[in-house]
Amino acid sequence: MKIFHFLFLHAVCFLLCASFNVNAQRKQFNISLGSSLAPTTNSSWLSRSGLYAFGFYPQGKAYAVGIFLAGIPEKTVVWTANRDDPPVSGNASLLLNTEGRLVLQSARGQETPVVAQGEVGPASYASMLDSGNFVLHNSSGGIIWQSFDHPTDTILTGQSLLNGQELVSNVSETDHSTGRFFLIMQSDGNLVQYPMEKIAVATAYWASGTVGWGADVRLSLDSDGHLYLHNSTGFSIMNLTAGIPTGRTVYFMKIDWDGIFRLYSHNLTQNNALSILWESSTDKCQPKGQCGFNSYCIVNPDNQPGCRCLPGFVYVDRENLYSGCKRNFAAERFINSHGTVIYSMREVNINVFEDVPYSVLQKTKDECKQACLEDSICEAALFNINGQCSMQRLPLRFVRRDESNIVFVKVYDPVSSTGDRPHLPINEGKKYPPMDMIIIVSSLFVAVILVIVAVFDWAYQCFDSRDLSQLIGDEEVELKQLERIVKIALWCIIDEPSFRPSMKKVLLMLEGTIDIPVPPDCISYLTSI
Ligand SMILES: *[C@@H]1O[C@H](CO)[C@@H](O)[C@H](O)[C@H]1NC(C)=O
Ligand SMILES: *[C@@H]1O[C@H](CO)[C@@H](O)[C@H](O)[C@H]1NC(C)=O
Ligand SMILES: *[C@@H]1O[C@H](CO)[C@@H](O)[C@H](O)[C@H]1NC(C)=O
Ligand SMILES: *[C@@H]1O[C@H](CO)[C@@H](O)[C@H](O)[C@H]1NC(C)=O
Ligand SMILES: *[C@@H]1O[C@H](CO)[C@@H](O)[C@H](O)[C@H]1NC(C)=O
Ligand SMILES: *[C@@H]1O[C@H](CO)[C@@H](O)[C@H](O)[C@H]1NC(C)=O
Ligand SMILES: *[C@@H]1O[C@H](CO)[C@@H](O)[C@H](O)[C@H]1NC(C)=O
Ligand SMILES: *[C@@H]1O[C@H](CO)[C@@H](O)[C@H](O)[C@H]1NC(C)=O
Repeated sequence: MKIFHFLFLHAVCFLLCASFNVNAQRKQFNISLGSSLAPTTNSSWLSRSGLYAFGFYPQGKAYAVGIFLAGIPEKTVVWTANRDDPPVSGNASLLLNTEGRLVLQSARGQETPVVAQGEVGPASYASMLDSGNFVLHNSSGGIIWQSFDHPTDTILTGQSLLNGQELVSNVSETDHSTGRFFLIMQSDGNLVQYPMEKIAVATAYWASGTVGWGADVRLSLDSDGHLYLHNSTGFSIMNLTAGIPTGRTVYFMKIDWDGIFRLYSHNLTQNNALSILWESSTDKCQPKGQCGFNSYCIVNPDNQPGCRCLPGFVYVDRENLYSGCKRNFAAERFINSHGTVIYSMREVNINVFEDVPYSVLQKTKDECKQACLEDSICEAALFNINGQCSMQRLPLRFVRRDESNIVFVKVYDPVSSTGDRPHLPINEGKKYPPMDMIIIVSSLFVAVILVIVAVFDWAYQCFDSRDLSQLIGDEEVELKQLERIVKIALWCIIDEPSFRPSMKKVLLMLEGTIDIPVPPDCISYLTSI
């Protein structure tokens, strides 16, 4: 059955290729040393059937290098080289050079490796196989590097995702670089999806539930569209899809930019129709981290995930609504002429999946609202039907719309509230002290860190090399938080006072409302003390 299927696919591909414009593509199954490609002339090396090609493909106004389905009108990209490098101009070239290295050459002659050949040494020739696998061979024909061992966001039929391997989503329809989600074949046998900023196992948003099968488990896709987990001796552990016994179809599995992984098919007999045969979730808001800090995920009418800011917040970047939200006020504006902070609570139907309260109280709904309102540290309170009131600081992460759940968000009203809740000018007369307290406490905290910084230089170097754990030894400190604080501390000790942030800004930095820029090099200062 499989043989028949295979032959049939080939026959169809040959027919397809006959009618296909192959001007820009060279049919060269064995790619010899010294061969080259250019984006606009010989742009790719085709596989024997013409279904797959390795070479340049357009990326915006420039070009990227990768493997794509060439035998169909939509040139679906299935592998990308150096995905985080910027695309190249039309006068670059791709070269399997005479030293046996595959390199991208800029118009000025600069060479960048296309594959990491460091450990494997020079190739004797290369080949673009009909399976979609691009292979570098040594002189005896052995495989020294193959794209199937280095998946980006897609696996093809005949390809497996092995222990420790990941598929990482791209950014968007127009940007193929590293995106926000990944799928990993874990050594415990579980196939799991996480947001890129994985901080704990709890951030997983999908799992096959096959823990305990061990490091031998792999995810494979057969040529009939059968997607399954099995071990190296072929024992079937879990079927994600059943195989479909029809030929003339190309299958591939991809983790999409929206964090959901899907099995696709191209039906070669039906105008190459692309269809989704299976998806890890139909809920576009399921992937945690779909929306940035302080924003929540909703499914738009066009069935695409969308992000909305919490009440009282605005988008950090209006060009990229997935990047999160920040408070909509300048820090000074929420304090009125009497030095009073004016705020109210707004109710919103959302759920927060990263529930990290600084305090949990047993309250009624109204008491919960009031408790947050009266606590100057509280920024939001999650109220659940069991009467649990979780008081939260910012930022709120992994938030989605949920009609059955209530969260109170503190909204600062510079003039008067125009919100959908009555204005609550509470804390009238409550003066500056709470702010002062925060400032004092934060200053103390920063001061402690300053001492650390002064005692150790190497603090900046540690920060610079992203090796903050050196600063704290074995202590259990949340690294991200520490990084924020060290960054703030480094800003605060700059010689030039005008460069130092104001205390208000420090407060906002501490609570995560605003981003902290990388501090300038201050090693010279630190060595002088
Ligand atoms: C490619 O090269 C290998 C090794 O030289 C050879 O065995 C094989 O037949 C060649 N394939 C084609 C299609 O020329
Ligand atoms: C394109 O292929 C032709 C035919 O093999 C060759 O003569 C030409 O040099 C190639 N062009 C580039 C830019 O590699
Ligand atoms: C290469 O192309 C870019 C834009 O496509 C152009 O600006 C540049 O001058 C070209 N370089 C050479 C050496 O032709
Ligand atoms: C070529 O690679 C294979 C493994 O893929 C290896 O067994 C063989 O020794 C290599 N041959 C040479 C000449 O390096
Ligand atoms: C695969 O799983 C089967 C069933 O549990 C087991 O008998 C077999 O030994 C496993 N193979 C390996 C290589 O672990
Ligand atoms: C998966 O499906 C195959 C038939 O396609 C079957 O033989 C196998 O037992 C199934 N595996 C599981 C875990 O159900
Ligand atoms: C990114 O992935 C999506 C599928 O999730 C695909 O449609 C799109 O073409 C990819 N973008 C690029 C630039 O390759
Ligand atoms: C492909 O299209 C043909 C003709 O419409 C249909 O019979 C076949 O079932 C389709 N295959 C798949 C996998 O959808």
